[in-house]
Amino acid sequence: MALGVARWRRVGFDGTVRSGKGPLEKLGAAVDDQLDSGADRRCNGCSLVIDYQLAGKVALVTGAGSGIGAACAWALAASSAKVALADIDLRAAEDLAVQLRAAGHEASAYSLDVVKPDAVDATVAAVVADFGGLNIAVNNAGTSGTAAPAADCTTKDWLRILDVNLNGVFYCTRAEVRAMRGHGGGSIVNMASVLGTVAHELSPAYVAAKHGVVGLTKSAALAHAPDGIRVNSVGPGYISTPMIETMIDDVQRSYLEGLHPLARLGGANEVAAPVAWLASDAASFATGGFYPVDGGYTAR
Ligand SMILES: NC(=O)c1ccc[n+]([C@@H]2O[C@H](COP(=O)([O-])OP(=O)(O)OC[C@H]3O[C@@H](n4cnc5c(N)ncnc54)[C@H](O)[C@@H]3O)[C@@H](O)[C@H]2O)c1
Repeated sequence: MALGVARWRRVGFDGTVRSGKGPLEKLGAAVDDQLDSGADRRCNGCSLVIDYQLAGKVALVTGAGSGIGAACAWALAASSAKVALADIDLRAAEDLAVQLRAAGHEASAYSLDVVKPDAVDATVAAVVADFGGLNIAVNNAGTSGTAAPAADCTTKDWLRILDVNLNGVFYCTRAEVRAMRGHGGGSIVNMASVLGTVAHELSPAYVAAKHGVVGLTKSAALAHAPDGIRVNSVGPGYISTPMIETMIDDVQRSYLEGLHPLARLGGANEVAAPVAWLASDAASFATGGFYPVDGGYTAR
């Protein structure tokens, strides 16, 4: 991330925009402001990002209807990208598109199940047809499984998690590279996890899938650097989104908070900000990387 004085822009979930210029402490204060307001916990479109000047760029976000995906869509739109919102939950993607358009952004929703390669190809083709190209992709759609050690992980759970969290990212990356190659290149950001580099004993499928995303990202980055396509992955720690909030009680929340040296869960916006950076030309020398956004989780 840029150091020192930076331009910042805060987009409220109601579409109100505040912007300014100042040192990063000011950004931190604004993040605290967001967290205190509870807006982040609702994960419904509040975002704080530096303006990465993405005007004229087209960005596809999968799993855009909720949590981190929605925050990424807001962050990219706040930097003036046109956003294509793909989700298996079309209603959620459409609701977000309505909010984004009401805030003055260009946004369209697409129904997509990322485990279906033909549907992925068709969606990418539709985005290119609708917006005139594809420059940025955030492969974020993902799901969690039942907590169980490897010995008790069911075949059904294993296959489902691998299908959504790894195969889906592969199908998307492949289709996006084909759309970007020969058309000016682009930037792809794959949503991994801290569990893409370290393990949890009760999440064998999720850990395997996210490690796979990190490896796929590196391979695609090497292969397609000559095409002008950068591919990176991001590794959030535990983030306050519906995926997590629907699974935990107060005791589990305290436990999860304690896993992070910053002693709290992250906000979706705090993942979206580095995603917007990676998507932009500000990260023009960054490819094949894995970027933890984890409150210090993997530093232990
Ligand atoms: N929340 C966390 O703590 C956390 C931590 C690390 C990584 N992640 C990763 O971040 C990503 C987003 O997670 P989140 O917490 O925002 O979850 P979320 O459940 O809030 O949102 C996930 C979105 O993906 C969509 N989706 C699920 N399966 C899909 C499919 N097959 N095709 C298309 N869309 C599909 C859902 O409808 C939903 O809108 C996931 O890849 C997750 O593994 C989350």
